[in-house]
Amino acid sequence: MIDIHCHVLPEIDDGAKSLDESMALIHQAIEQGITRIVATPHIHVGIYDNNQQTILGAYSRVQQEIKAQGLPIELRVAAEVRICPEIIMLAKQNQLPFVGDFDEKKVLLLELPSSHLPAGVEKLIDWLINSNILPMIAHPERNRELQRYPDRIKPFQQRGCLFQLTAASLIGDLGDSPKALSQLWIKKKLYTIIGSDCHSIKRRPPKLHQAYSITKELTDDTYATQLVVDNPYLISKRLFS
Ligand SMILES: [Fe+2]
Repeated sequence: MIDIHCHVLPEIDDGAKSLDESMALIHQAIEQGITRIVATPHIHVGIYDNNQQTILGAYSRVQQEIKAQGLPIELRVAAEVRICPEIIMLAKQNQLPFVGDFDEKKVLLLELPSSHLPAGVEKLIDWLINSNILPMIAHPERNRELQRYPDRIKPFQQRGCLFQLTAASLIGDLGDSPKALSQLWIKKKLYTIIGSDCHSIKRRPPKLHQAYSITKELTDDTYATQLVVDNPYLISKRLFS
């Protein structure tokens, strides 16, 4: 399996708090059957002001340790970018990290606020797509406006956005509302991939395999495999770190 949404890099966001915790998460990922990770620390202007320098610095610490321990896992790096007006400037300056590409477009893991859909979100998405950047909406099932009005996902679908399900949502670790909405959408085959979105050993460990099993029960083997193997492989295959 391939996990293209996780917070395994140390000390640059609310994910791993130390290199030891990064390595514990990576050991758990390997036990789950994960062979490639794309680390996606937050870029959230004013909260987690990460950039290429901070991200690559943390990445190289983990990569060195993976090599030293001879672990059978490939580590790459991108980011989870919180939606904000500054995204346009970051895109123009080539400062946006991408989780890969799809349909000849760069794929941006784009995080919505958890409370609502911001005004102007559709215009921003149109601008990104016109700039050859395809948003992959991170865990839409966690957005409270979408929990109340699931049909408000339609403008994102109509524009061709990709969708990432967080494993813990479907399992039920994040509460009833994300679980119910992710069940509804997984049955409709809305999602493109499942990511662990793992943050810490205690708070949110990697549980991709459990989410795969639930998806298989709710849909079918082919779709479940697409979400954790085929699609994340296709998206991340040309990403080099
Ligand atoms: Fe995340």
